[in-house]
Amino acid sequence: MIILKKVLIPRENSWIRRDIIIENGVYSKISESIDEYDLKNGRVIQCEGLYLIPSFIDPHVHVREPGYDYKEDWDTCTRAALKGGASAIFDMPNNKIPVTDKKTIKEKGEIAFNKSYVNYGLYVALTDDNVDEIRKSGIQKAVCGIKIYMSKTTGDITVRSEYALLNIFNQTRPVLVHTGSVDGLLKILSSYEKAAKKFSSIPVLYICHVSTGDEVSILRKWKEIFPWIHVEVSPHHLFLNKENYKGLKRVLPPLCSKKDNEALWKGIDDKTIDLIGTDHAPHTVEEKKKEDPPAGFPGLETALPLLFNALKEERITLGTLLRITSVNTKTLFRIRKGTGVQENACADCTLIEEGEFFIGQNGYITKCGWSPFHGWKYTFNPVLTMVDGFIAYERGRFFRNPVKNLCI
Ligand code: NCD
Ligand code: ZN
Ligand code: ZN
Ligand code: ZN
Repeated sequence: MIILKKVLIPRENSWIRRDIIIENGVYSKISESIDEYDLKNGRVIQCEGLYLIPSFIDPHVHVREPGYDYKEDWDTCTRAALKGGASAIFDMPNNKIPVTDKKTIKEKGEIAFNKSYVNYGLYVALTDDNVDEIRKSGIQKAVCGIKIYMSKTTGDITVRSEYALLNIFNQTRPVLVHTGSVDGLLKILSSYEKAAKKFSSIPVLYICHVSTGDEVSILRKWKEIFPWIHVEVSPHHLFLNKENYKGLKRVLPPLCSKKDNEALWKGIDDKTIDLIGTDHAPHTVEEKKKEDPPAGFPGLETALPLLFNALKEERITLGTLLRITSVNTKTLFRIRKGTGVQENACADCTLIEEGEFFIGQNGYITKCGWSPFHGWKYTFNPVLTMVDGFIAYERGRFFRNPVKNLCI
């Protein structure tokens, strides 16, 4: 049992001060004052001046293990997640041997179960010839979603088959798409429209990492007809553009203009954009310094601090921050047990301190050891992250508790 004393919790768009008991994985009591002498065993944490939010759930992470564990592995990646205030990550399938069938899912599932510090979900990649297997073999039930690459990125698993692009919508798991271009986006939207006519029900279509005003405009219109379309944005496309960024190069989709940054913020504001995925895509500094570097930026340790900067600058409201970092993600992937800091909801939460901090000032937990935001100033810093009511991270220290696959 843990008692949090005098902690600030979100209510609408502001904060209220409460005492909280966390027991059996949930907030068992939230009230104006709880006597700490009620505590029989466990711990009282004095939280004066600290903020508590539902932890970040990151639906777009490239853990890299198995295959590329010299870039990142399940130990380093999930500890980076905790330090960044995330209690769950969903891992992409573009490993060295892509995750496309029962065997590769099982292999990764065992590694995750044995090494992860956070709850997790795993994606399977669609290929030109595994759509029937995904639908009928039980794979569907072992994954949090299906990933489609419409063009080449890290790992080449581009799907070209019209049959696959249509029939993947004849099952219930969310379908996530790396569109690669506006053409790719229009192509998948047109498959989705055909599927809507052909099948009695269709799953969520999830567009990964939008980066331009054009994509936002197209999706704003399509969402009026298909409200099950969900749109993701990554922090680097909100905060960085080709003018202001001077760090290690190359990410997909590429950084765009300041005008695109603004269009993305507007998309968040009017709910065209539903959620944040970091697209945490670690590559070593050595690889990134090469003439033709692999594409990808790490992002797990910086997403919440940056979004809190945006909250402080009044670019977004507190309600919006929570909506795009946890509420919408839980709803979309059907992770139940409550979406807020409420009695009986699951205690996946992060305590945040206020002060003056700089990205990277104490190094990085990610094995790749760098950030495109190195040196940026921030004001809100995650100091403690709980997974299912257990403290998994506290001020630089990590504790491995039982974790689970959230989506099976
Ligand atoms: C990602 C990676 O390295 O796995 N790279 C990237 O630039 N975003 C792949 C991807 O999400 O496209
Ligand atoms: Zn991608
Ligand atoms: Zn990605
Ligand atoms: Zn939980």
